[in-house]
Amino acid sequence: MNGNQKLEACNQDRQDFIQYFSQIVKVLTEDELGHPETGDAIAWLKEVLEYNAMGGKYNWGLTVLQAFRELVEPRKQDAESLQWALTVGWCVEMLQAFFLVSDDIMDSSLTRRGQNCWYQKPGIGLDAVNDALLLEACINRLLKLYCREQLYYLNLLQLFLQSSYQTEIGQTLDLITAPQGHVDLGRYTEKKYKSLVKYKTAFYSFYLPVVADMYMAGIDGDKEHASATRILLEMGEFFQIQDDYLDLFGDPSVTGKVGTDIQDNKCSCLVVQCLLRATQQQCQILEENYGQKDPEKVAQAKAPHEALDLPAVFLKSEEDSYSRLKSLVEQYSAPLPPAIFWN
Ligand code: IPE
Ligand code: MN
Ligand code: MN
Repeated sequence: MNGNQKLEACNQDRQDFIQYFSQIVKVLTEDELGHPETGDAIAWLKEVLEYNAMGGKYNWGLTVLQAFRELVEPRKQDAESLQWALTVGWCVEMLQAFFLVSDDIMDSSLTRRGQNCWYQKPGIGLDAVNDALLLEACINRLLKLYCREQLYYLNLLQLFLQSSYQTEIGQTLDLITAPQGHVDLGRYTEKKYKSLVKYKTAFYSFYLPVVADMYMAGIDGDKEHASATRILLEMGEFFQIQDDYLDLFGDPSVTGKVGTDIQDNKCSCLVVQCLLRATQQQCQILEENYGQKDPEKVAQAKAPHEALDLPAVFLKSEEDSYSRLKSLVEQYSAPLPPAIFWN
């Protein structure tokens, strides 16, 4: 395929993936919508799904579809198997929606994907906790509905459960490193940062979609899984560094969300880098202003980040990580096709 054909195939996958959502909602709701006991709850679930699973970038769900095409022999890519790949892709999106609805509550965020966070909608509030649980429950319902007859069913179930647990451990690390009202700059180290992003982001967004395909393609060798893990976890870290950068320096009209890392006292890659370069005076400014809601204090805490020209530092480190990732893929992807990591 040349560049143009590849782009067209990508766009087609994207369209197919998004279109398949209505099918997902249908199978999750059709049997019970008119049910005298649960019908009202199912109508509510439909709303929760439409508000929270749609409107993102679909990167992780789409990865399942795209890596499926690379990993599964073409003759085995019949309409039914494609349906399984689309469904598993949507399961990844549901898991993401479950985490984001909860994450926004914990991070006191305001917007997500260009709209109010679900819990911020009038009349929703902390009822969103139950809605997050509903989104999570959809994963197992979908896997059972579509894949229960498959040899890989148990592997997939275990994979989703394990990725959820790892993410929850990551969220725990993220939260306990950022206790409200208690700034301790000594906590923001590169080592801490690496472990919390590996768990909170890399497993569910990079490892899960590709490894799900490996199981669907019948690849369960230790060597293949170890290589894939090595590459995918590194990619996850790279991604979260960008997310942290955008939290402070991104344009909310592009990212769809207003950053909260400074207010939330988070161990962001930016504050870690800032502290590595800060003068004693800048450290003091951070000490006095980081981790507080007052917009004046947020601006004060942002100042050292700007004075130390962190955007330039970030750009440079982005280039370095990109080439490191590239050589990692070259070195470790075989026998898996490099295109499952790089597309
Ligand atoms: C989110 O981390 C990780 C999960 C949702 C599991 P962040 O809190 O840093 O992500 P954003 O910036 O709110 O999207
Ligand atoms: Mn968040
Ligand atoms: Mn968070």
